[in-house]
Order: sequence, then structure tokens, then C-alpha cells
Amino acid sequence: MSAPEPPPPVPWSAEFWDARYASADRVWSGEPNPQLVADVSAVPPGRALDVGAGEGADSIWLARQGWTVVAVDVSSVALDRARRHAEFAGVADRISWVHGDVLAGPLPAGPFDLVSVEFMHVPLAERTELFRRCIDAVGPGGLLQIVGHHPSDLATGARRPARHDVFYAAEEIAGLLDDGWTVLACDARPRPAVDHQGAPITIHDAVLLARRG
Ligand SMILES: C[S@@+](CC[C@H](N)C(=O)[O-])C[C@H]1O[C@@H](n2cnc3c(N)ncnc32)[C@H](O)[C@@H]1O
Repeated sequence: MSAPEPPPPVPWSAEFWDARYASADRVWSGEPNPQLVADVSAVPPGRALDVGAGEGADSIWLARQGWTVVAVDVSSVALDRARRHAEFAGVADRISWVHGDVLAGPLPAGPFDLVSVEFMHVPLAERTELFRRCIDAVGPGGLLQIVGHHPSDLATGARRPARHDVFYAAEEIAGLLDDGWTVLACDARPRPAVDHQGAPITIHDAVLLARRG
């Protein structure tokens, strides 16, 4: 009798993401996330943390806006690529790339003027604990932006991870904030996309934007 197949790696592990990034020269568009651009373009730059930075498009955009960025990701394949993109963009000196598992270990040391978490999809217990630490990492007057795929996307035919418990609405995250925070946006923002057959659909980004103070 043959040995049972090992379980597939979970999509919040280095094994999963290294394989995903190694499967293509570029996985994401190279453009910064539209919700980050919409909410942060007019914010005076300071020190930012990009959690799950991937191929670095958001970190590079922030650096171009004058931010000093600490970018953390579990995938060394993604970080090597991000580092090269930052050098090409001429902003390498403004970004520190940190290889780490933010579920298993601490976040880079704060405080930060902006903590940005874009499309980190992990189950409820893990994301609640992670988002609490992201909240704690924001300094006085600083901003928190957390963006994810809204659960309503599951009914649209958009390509999405198989596990449905990794999606969340912004209201869930807003519920983690105490009275010391001002919620600036708690939205499900529509965005044009295509379904798995290429037909046009509307998806929604869950967007939580809040200021400490
Ligand atoms: C969907 S991608 C989003 C990448 C980037 N934020 C963007 O919007 O283009 C999720 C990213 O989170 C990273 N990630 C997943 N689990 C992680 C973990 N436990 N610790 C640190 N990074 C993680 C992945 O390597 C991946 O780059």
C-alpha cells in the first residue's frame, strides 16, 4: 500500500507562496492597489509598514510618494523580485525588505505612520490576531488600511481561493478598533473585473481605513 499524499500547503505558508511566485515571471500587475492609491495619495509621507508585500508594487508606490517603507512577506521568491523592481524604480534606499511569517512571528518593530495590509487572506482566528497586532503597530495619528476581497465576490464567478472562511467585510475589522480610533472608511467598494471565463463582472474590495486619534 502506498503512503497517503501529504496535505497541500496552506495559502499562508512560504511553501505555497514560493511555488506560486516561482510559477511565473510576474504574478500581479505591477501596479499599486487602487484602494491604497485612492486613500493615501494625499497623506503626508512618513514611515509605512506593508504587510504581505508580495512583488512590491505598493511599497514601491509608497516610496515614490516619499514614504520610508518596511515591507514584510513570507516568500523569499517574491521579495527577491520586489527588491529588483525597487532598484529598477530607483527607490531601493527607501524600502527595507523583511523575510518573515507574520502569523508565526512578530511584525517588524513599529510604530508606523501607516500600516497597509492588502489582500492577506487567512482564516478568522489567524486574521483577528494578525490584524490586532497591525492595529497596535500604528503610532499616534497614524493610518491603518486593510483591504481584502469581499465575501460577496464568491457569488460573482471571480477566481478566488477555495477556502471561503478567508474572506471578510470591513465591518469585521472595524469591530477590533477601540475608542481611540476614527474610522474614515468602512466600505465594500465596487471594481470592474472578469470572471473565470473572461466575462465582465463587478467585484467588491472590503476597505477599512482608520486613524489612531
Ligand atoms: C494575495 S498576495 C497580495 C500581495 C500584495 N499585498 C498585493 O496586493 O499585490 C498575499 C501576500 O501575502 C503573503 N503572505 C501570505 N501569508 C503570509 C504570512 N504568513 N506571512 C507573511 N506574508 C504572507 C504572500 O506571500 C503574498 O505575497
